[in-house]
Amino acid sequence: MSTLITGIGELTTNSEVTGNALVIDGAEIAWVGSSTNAPAADDRVDVEGRAVLPGWVDSHTHLVFAGDRTAEFGARMAGKPYTAGGIAVTVNATRAATDEELAAVVRRHVAEALRQGTTFVETKTGYGLNVADEVRSARIAAEQADEVTFLGAHLVPPGEDADTYVDLVRGEMLDAVAPLVSWADVFCEKGAFDYDQSKAVLQAAAAKGLGLRVHGNQLGEGPGVRLAVELGAASVDHCTYLSAADVDALASSDTVATLLPACDLSTRQSLPPARALLDAGATVALASNCNPGSSYTSSMAFCVTTAVLQMRMSVEEAVWAATAGGAQALRRTDVGVIRPGARADLHVLDAPSITHLAYRPGVPLTHSVWRRGERAS
Ligand code: NIG
Repeated sequence: MSTLITGIGELTTNSEVTGNALVIDGAEIAWVGSSTNAPAADDRVDVEGRAVLPGWVDSHTHLVFAGDRTAEFGARMAGKPYTAGGIAVTVNATRAATDEELAAVVRRHVAEALRQGTTFVETKTGYGLNVADEVRSARIAAEQADEVTFLGAHLVPPGEDADTYVDLVRGEMLDAVAPLVSWADVFCEKGAFDYDQSKAVLQAAAAKGLGLRVHGNQLGEGPGVRLAVELGAASVDHCTYLSAADVDALASSDTVATLLPACDLSTRQSLPPARALLDAGATVALASNCNPGSSYTSSMAFCVTTAVLQMRMSVEEAVWAATAGGAQALRRTDVGVIRPGARADLHVLDAPSITHLAYRPGVPLTHSVWRRGERAS
C-alpha cells in the first residue's frame, strides 16, 4: 500500500532531499520531490499547505514508574531544591506495582507522546534497583519503546552500601538485564555515583556489547561529560552545568550533548548553554526526560519552544535537535530524517512552517502523525 502526500507548505527533511510531496510505501519513505513529478500511488492525501517534518525522536525518558510526586513538585515551587534522593520515592511505588500497572503507565505515556508527534521513544529502567525489578522494568519497557536503556546505576537504594550496590549492578543485575536492552546509562552526579563507580558500571556494560550513555552535569559541574567522552558514549544527557573544558571535549567528540530543558525548568535550575555548545561545534539533541520527578512532560514541542525562546537556538537548530539530534544520540540513521529508505514517521503541523512552534508557544500544533507508514492520529 503506497500513499502520495501532496500540498506540503514547508518540508523539513534533515537530509539532502527537498520537495513539496512524498510517497510512503509500507513502513518506509519511498520518494521525495516536487508534486509535478510525483509517481503514482494507491492513495493520495493533500495536507493543504501545512508544514511536514520528521516525527520527534525522544531520546531520553523514564516511563517505567508508578506513583506520584506532585507534593515534591509543589515543595520545589515553594523553594525546596531538587535532589537525586526523590528517585527513591518512585522506586518504592514501582516495586509495589503489578506488571500490568507498570505496562499501562508506559502505554499511556507513549500514546500521549505519539498524539503530540513523537514517533520514536527511548525509555529506561532505573526505578527497580534490584535484579528482579530491573529485569521486569526492562521487559515492560521493551514492549512499548523503540529503544531501552539499563539504568540500574540511577541511585544507591537507601540503606545499601554504595560499593556493594555497584558490584551488583555491574555483575548479576547487568547479566540479567543485558539481553533485554541495547544501552546502559549511569547517573554520574553528587548524591548518585562518582566517576570511578560510574566508569566501572559503563565498562562492564560495554564488555557486554551495550552502547553507553551518561546522565551528567545536571546538578552542578562534575565528571559526567569527561567520562562520557572518554568512553565514547553516544550521549551525555542534561549538560546543565558545563565548564569550558566540557564544551571543548564535547565539540571534539562524537558524544551528543542531550539537553533536557523541561527538566531544568521543573527543577528551577539554569537552562543549559546550548549556544556555547553549538557555536563550539558540538552535536546537540533535545529530549523530554519525561519522568514523575524532575520533568513530568512528554511534550517535545514544549522543549523546542523553550530552546528557541530561552536558549537562543534557532527554530531550525531546535527542530533538528529534537529529530535528527535525538536519532544521533541513539546512533540511528533511519529515523529523525525524511528521505527514501527512512522510516515513514511524519509529523504534520497545523501551521505553514516550523517557525510557528516558537511563534505560537503553548498552542497544540500537531495536525496529524504517521508512524511506520500508518496514520497514527
Ligand atoms: O533524568 N537524573 C536522574 N534521573 C532523572 C530524575 C528522576 C527522578 O527524579 O525521578 C532525570 O532527571
